[in-house]
Amino acid sequence: MPNQDQQQSDPYILKSATRADLELARLRSIEEIYDPGTRKLLGSLGMAGGWSCLEVGAGAGSIARTMAEAVGCAGKVIATEIDRTLLADLAHPGVRVIEHDITRDHLPTESWDLIHVRSVLEHLPSPTAAVSQLVSSLVRGGRLLVEAIDVSDESLDRAAQQAPNSKAATAFLQFSRAVNQLMVLTGADPELGTRLADILTEHGLERVEHERRHPLVPGGSRGFYALTYARLAPAFRKHGLISTADDHLTSTFDDRSATFPAVPIVAAFGYAPAAV
Ligand SMILES: C[S@@+](CC[C@H](N)C(=O)[O-])C[C@H]1O[C@@H](n2cnc3c(N)ncnc32)[C@H](O)[C@@H]1O
Repeated sequence: MPNQDQQQSDPYILKSATRADLELARLRSIEEIYDPGTRKLLGSLGMAGGWSCLEVGAGAGSIARTMAEAVGCAGKVIATEIDRTLLADLAHPGVRVIEHDITRDHLPTESWDLIHVRSVLEHLPSPTAAVSQLVSSLVRGGRLLVEAIDVSDESLDRAAQQAPNSKAATAFLQFSRAVNQLMVLTGADPELGTRLADILTEHGLERVEHERRHPLVPGGSRGFYALTYARLAPAFRKHGLISTADDHLTSTFDDRSATFPAVPIVAAFGYAPAAV
């Protein structure tokens, strides 16, 4: 465990201001990887015309757009972001964007039929405080879908078995283990995904279920791994998490013909009680 000096009050290390050029492309690569699974879950939760939906930490905004298309003119979608410049291109008439820090700011006073948050909670100093705030702003019977990575050893070993060859498996494991260690050093929770379902149950949600996914991801210099490695490599080196002998990761991730398992993500969802 990191000591107090190592931890930061804000564990999120990929603020767009530090490399705005790379960050938007990186967020779009995250959407390409995880949106198909997220959309399927949103559909299975019954997302429909007229619903009020909240997308927290919307990133580049593709899921907020999906919500707006599903709820139509009779519905409402608010997308929150700590950094709304990321959502500058989200010109969708059905989405209202608000600058909002889930760790500090109150949510809009509305109640929501559906709230979604992906790859945000694991970067917060207190994910359970955020879940508590989200649960209390659901309508009766409303749905909360939360997604967070799980880069525990067990999860990584399982995902690595999907790699097409040992070179891809090795690069995936080196990268993901370094991510795990860096997140611990900064006070984030790299294994939050494993606990999400329990957290939702502890906060009173019913019919809680969860699923884990790690689809295969293509390499390439504009792909998720190359872009994320470019952003994190200085921090990996600073903390001694990647040695100079591992510098081949850049060329491995730049290879467009390569394929890697995605960083495993766990989605958990549940329903607010229908009556009190
Ligand atoms: C890894 S990205 C995920 C983006 C998007 N949810 C997705 O899955 O495509 C994390 C996002 O959370 C945002 N974020 C980080 N800390 C936040 C906070 N305290 N409140 C709201 N958003 C935050 C970041 O700006 C970034 O866009």
